[in-house]
Amino acid sequence: MTSPKSFALDPIEKASVDELRALQLKRLKATLNHAYANSPVYRARFDAVGVHPDDCKSLADLAKFPFTSKADLREHYPFGLFAVPRERVVRVHASSGTTGKPTVVGYTANDVSMWADCVARSIRAAGARPGDMVHVSYGYGLFTGGLGAHYGAERLGLTVVPFGGGQTERQVQLITDFKPNIIMVTPSYMLAIADEMDRLGLDPVGSSLRVGIFGAEPWTNDMRRAVEARMGLDAVDIYGLSEVIGPGVASECVETKDGPTIWEDHFYPEVINPDTGEPVADGELGQLVFTSLTKEALPIIRYRTRDLTRLLPGTARTMRRMEKITGRSDDMMIVRGVNVFPSQIEELILKHPELTPHYQCILSKEGPLDALTVAIEPQFGVAVDSPQALAAAQALQHEIKTYIGSSAKIELRQVGGIERSVGKARRVIDLRNAK
Ligand code: DLL
Repeated sequence: MTSPKSFALDPIEKASVDELRALQLKRLKATLNHAYANSPVYRARFDAVGVHPDDCKSLADLAKFPFTSKADLREHYPFGLFAVPRERVVRVHASSGTTGKPTVVGYTANDVSMWADCVARSIRAAGARPGDMVHVSYGYGLFTGGLGAHYGAERLGLTVVPFGGGQTERQVQLITDFKPNIIMVTPSYMLAIADEMDRLGLDPVGSSLRVGIFGAEPWTNDMRRAVEARMGLDAVDIYGLSEVIGPGVASECVETKDGPTIWEDHFYPEVINPDTGEPVADGELGQLVFTSLTKEALPIIRYRTRDLTRLLPGTARTMRRMEKITGRSDDMMIVRGVNVFPSQIEELILKHPELTPHYQCILSKEGPLDALTVAIEPQFGVAVDSPQALAAAQALQHEIKTYIGSSAKIELRQVGGIERSVGKARRVIDLRNAK
């Protein structure tokens, strides 16, 4: 049993930038060598473009190495990219994916431990205190959310309630009875839990929860303010993806709430132009790419996340931050030639107190043309055909046209009319190719 992590910061979190870069370069060289020596797939990929781990003399040299993508993991399903014998893999996780084979990721005992350290660091950055209790509503199982959060909270020596997703009424019951201080859950499911509290006549602001550690899906700063007011807690953003490790690749510091700090001593970030693959300067928007620096079972070299963001200078820590994710290439809707992200619509919805952030964007065809419908529930107690709801819908339609440039229909639905997910919310439903 590893002893609980201390509440003091890890020295590297406040080290000088030079010290951090030196550590990254050392670890990057080791990772490239490990991947080349132990994974035939990586070796073949490096050989094909004529690069060798010895060509990496500075962090900028990483740009000479080929990218990895989800397709590579699928192609070598299930364990083909692993760089250790299967017997050394103590855990696997997998993401279902919408089509085809799942992507499978693996961890050695050291990987699981490093991951727990990163999540513990994230929970501490969120404002955890000794003795806190953590209610985990991320799903357990092949999804990395539940177990990732769980081991991190335990590593910090906190009391964990391993609830998982679903059974919303029971979640509320246990939150009321056990009085946890921290909840780890997707922001959309947090809202469903808050609705359930309302339904049961409980005041969400009066709950014991002091901190919410929200992630696994995009959510805006407006949503942060809405959830904070609704629940009476500090809402911080935790980011991660299974191919890189799971939750805890980056996480927000409660004292600044200015975008997740990337735990750069373990995950080296780049932002690239998604079309050319060229790295862009810090501060510029592009696609986030990660290289693991300490992973054993599945070293990941220049993994294209498809998440869009920019790298920002460190504030609360030495390490760089990423801007809160505004969108994922996969979620971008192209409506009659206009690029639209659900997060842009979310921002506009949240300006209307009569409307809730329970919404979905539905794409369909009107003859040869794309049509966008935003389905949305008004606030509890505001009828769908009431003048307030109709006025809000009309204003929202006008704002979507003015600020995003897209014509959208607004469809008001009764409470419960928008599907509630117990994990990641489905924001886009594309019916354009449906029969
Ligand atoms: O969602 C890991 C995770 C679990 C992160 C719990 C945070 C909390 P995947 O299922 O592999 O892993 O999905 C990864 O989810 O590429 C992003 O598109 C999205 N995502 C994750 N965290 C955030 C976030 C987990 N904080 C994909 N903000 C990523 C926006 C996020 N998007």
